[in-house]
Amino acid sequence: MALRLGDLAPDFEQDSSEGRIRFHDWLGESWGVLFSHPADYTPVCTTELGLTAKLKDEFARRGVKAIALSVDGVESHKGWIQDINETQSTTVNFPILADGDRKVSQLYDMIHPNANETLTVRSLFVIDPKKKVRLIITYPASTGRNFNEILRVIDSLQLTDNHSVATPGNWQDGDDVVIVPSLKDEAVIREKFPKGYKAVRPYLRLTPQPNK
Ligand code: BEZ
Repeated sequence: MALRLGDLAPDFEQDSSEGRIRFHDWLGESWGVLFSHPADYTPVCTTELGLTAKLKDEFARRGVKAIALSVDGVESHKGWIQDINETQSTTVNFPILADGDRKVSQLYDMIHPNANETLTVRSLFVIDPKKKVRLIITYPASTGRNFNEILRVIDSLQLTDNHSVATPGNWQDGDDVVIVPSLKDEAVIREKFPKGYKAVRPYLRLTPQPNK
């Protein structure tokens, strides 16, 4: 069965451009972004991996490790990484899994046979430090993902975990957030949100972003 939000992210051992990886050990206490792409030496994938490399500091600031995957082999990955570095003016600083035997692709349901029988689609999973799946997105091969959106979702998830708030539609860092509906105790709310809040409706309570 396909993975769902809240499921334990399956552990695996697989080769990568940076050697053999035991996934849960490799994640350690970090958040993780595991993302697949259809193939090495393809244009959209080249830009995506270049973008991810350039966002290294943004991922690190949030305690996130990135790891890519395709069904191509380690030597192909290594050659392609040189191309990515040259063409995208960056240094790929994360591993690319070499999933030739489709072990990880199958565990994470990254092959959608009606789209392509053998290649992975653009799947992406955000995994939290408890190894729970917190975001699943799937894009078609022809559309590169927006990695700023991935960072935005991670910011939202971390705000929820740390401050009991959720983020409204189109929320951007610094905008007001909403107090989660499960929080009802006025005394707790006053303590948690010293900047106050505005109840537009009893169920819609806006408060300044707590970590700003
Ligand atoms: C690409 O990564 O550029 C790509 C892969 C498959 C289909 C179309 C584009």
